[in-house]
Amino acid sequence: AHTVGRDADGAVTVGGLPVTRLAEEYGTPAYILDESDFRERARAWRTAFGADADVFYAGKAFLSRAVVRWLHEEGLNLDVCSGGELATALSAGMPAERIAFHGNNKSPEEIERAVAAGVGRIVLDSFQEIVRVAHTAQALGKRQRVQIRITVGVEAHTHEFIATAHEDQKFGIPLAGGQAAEAVRRALQLDGIELIGIHSHIGSQIFDMSGFEVAAHRVVGLLKDIRDEHGVELPEIDLGGGLGIAYTSDDDPREPHEIAKALTEIVTRECESARLRTPRISVEPGRAIVGPTAFTLYEVGTVKPLDGLRTYVSVDGGMSDNIRTALYDAEYSVALVSRTSDAEPMLARVVGKHCESGDIVVKDAFLPGDLAPGDLIAVPATGAYCRSMASNYNHVLRPPVVAVRDGEARVIVRRETEEDLLRLDVG
Ligand code: LLP
Repeated sequence: AHTVGRDADGAVTVGGLPVTRLAEEYGTPAYILDESDFRERARAWRTAFGADADVFYAGKAFLSRAVVRWLHEEGLNLDVCSGGELATALSAGMPAERIAFHGNNKSPEEIERAVAAGVGRIVLDSFQEIVRVAHTAQALGKRQRVQIRITVGVEAHTHEFIATAHEDQKFGIPLAGGQAAEAVRRALQLDGIELIGIHSHIGSQIFDMSGFEVAAHRVVGLLKDIRDEHGVELPEIDLGGGLGIAYTSDDDPREPHEIAKALTEIVTRECESARLRTPRISVEPGRAIVGPTAFTLYEVGTVKPLDGLRTYVSVDGGMSDNIRTALYDAEYSVALVSRTSDAEPMLARVVGKHCESGDIVVKDAFLPGDLAPGDLIAVPATGAYCRSMASNYNHVLRPPVVAVRDGEARVIVRRETEEDLLRLDVG
């Protein structure tokens, strides 16, 4: 529910503000994030899953203190996967018990901080980590609630780099060959940890629910084996994140209530047939909440028609603010937003200002044929994994995140400055 319109001059408005004014005030490139849209999406997930389930927003998609406060207010929990994300969450007042700590190689310091802070759960990713967390908690005189992340052998229908539940990859402990069952055995023996559940994350940008169905079937199968072997019914399962969003008009995402209904039904059905009490379900959507809520606003710098090929449109950012096109072959759309145009569309490629020919933001797009330097263009659906994966390549400064709401804008992450860059350079 982006609050988008046009003003009298034909400029696109978001949250009641024309992009031309946003560009003047905050400069370009900038990520413009619609706070109302973010809150509505967060609330929709929360409501869809209800009181018997938990929604952990995956902070890796985009995290800032304002975002943490919105999540807190909307009743969501938070998944963090580094000391930095944990520090951001705690400094913005997220109660530690509502935080889940992830990662396949948490450092001893990270583990200690998470346990000491009292995070609600740590998701264990290896045999070594089971022991590390147990020992750390014991040394601190605590009993840490944990889940074990397993790989269930599902290939999610997505780009190879972001599919994570097949077995030949770094995350999780394979269900196959009895490794997950062995991990559970060890976890149940250790005093410093309390095993509360099993975690599975099968990949990202998924539209087809059948992967979750297979994952739930296998996770419940493990719960049943645990009950049969140890006489313990683990009270929780987490099915991870990965729900897809619309980057282009070809994508057709599911609504949170459909997802909640599908997941709850699958788990309930599987548990009934295994004669298990239905565990509390949790999910970890990142992209599905923040992805659609922001767009990147760029200013066109040069327009270079290549005869018979296409027109290269260079903007003032690029792969440093959106690496996804180069990294995953991701598809985005783009639109002229500072004015309207009746010119014939031209086949364009939107590229950045970096010293690399792979520095592409939008591979193929139609833009008005009269596009010119100074025009503002917007790339939608850049709320997830763009600012959070931004870099300083070529010493380009990372753009700000500007939140708009009810006709007002405020910077929630400021633009980087050359001073910021030089501060780290202590040679
Ligand atoms: N939970 C776990 C354990 C995860 O590893 C991830 C994503 C999520 C939740 C959230 O997934 P989401 O709902 O946002 O798809 N940088 C890539 C995606 C990598 C995601 C890694 N883990 C991208 O730009 O598409």
